[in-house]
Amino acid sequence: MEREKEEEEEEIVCLDESFFINDNYQLTTFTFGSQVIQLFCLHSASTDFDLTGQLVWPGAMLLNDYISKNSELLQGRSVIELGSGVGITGILCSRFCREVVLTDHNEEVLRILKKNVELHSSSQNHNGSSGLAAEKLEWGNSEHIYHILEKYSRGFDLILGADICFQQASIPLLFDTVEKLLRFRGQGQCKFILAYISRAKVMDSMVINEATRHGLEINEIAGTRSVVGNLGGTIFEVTL
Ligand SMILES: C[S@@+](CC[C@H](N)C(=O)[O-])C[C@H]1O[C@@H](n2cnc3c(N)ncnc32)[C@H](O)[C@@H]1O
Repeated sequence: MEREKEEEEEEIVCLDESFFINDNYQLTTFTFGSQVIQLFCLHSASTDFDLTGQLVWPGAMLLNDYISKNSELLQGRSVIELGSGVGITGILCSRFCREVVLTDHNEEVLRILKKNVELHSSSQNHNGSSGLAAEKLEWGNSEHIYHILEKYSRGFDLILGADICFQQASIPLLFDTVEKLLRFRGQGQCKFILAYISRAKVMDSMVINEATRHGLEINEIAGTRSVVGNLGGTIFEVTL
């Protein structure tokens, strides 16, 4: 009996975690207005819940459509994107911005994000060039954010997020990071543009409540409500 128990405890599974990760990325073409972007992504989700960033999400389609129609908002700006996934939003921005820093927390997602950044760094910006970089940033992690603000010491004019509100526990952390980035620049100098896809009522109110709890103003941008796939979405502007 004792021996059986010991054997049970010693059982070793001879598979490492890479066995569960689908990294069969496909070079895929996306079009937003006159902008065509090719990048590597998956077309269906991996088995791991934390690997959401391997795909392009509806929120990115919503935000990229908005950006392609309002590109003047980005001209000459310095931008940081939170939860970039494969990087489709940041890469579109780099066509118009001075500087774009794409961020994510998941190591596998960062690997494909960096590959896409490399792919686009060589064929950069038609009107000059923008710095395009990928950095690790986990929301709520002070070390990560301070490292980024040390490296990009002027801070950012715009913070972007596409489809990054789907897990309740991470929302307070997301707004901690957003608040730090906004306060670093000061009132009127920086805003957070969030493409939000509504999947649950509890999340709809949590996003508003967390922004308010952090002393931030959150407003829907007029005319941005739309249906993406079969989900409702909108774009929020969040300021100090
Ligand atoms: C649903 S995906 C959206 C990806 C991309 N923005 C898009 O719309 O295609 C959410 C992204 O947020 C990242 N993410 C989730 N929780 C995070 C956290 N706590 N810190 C930083 N990134 C996070 C995930 O790794 C993933 O890339």
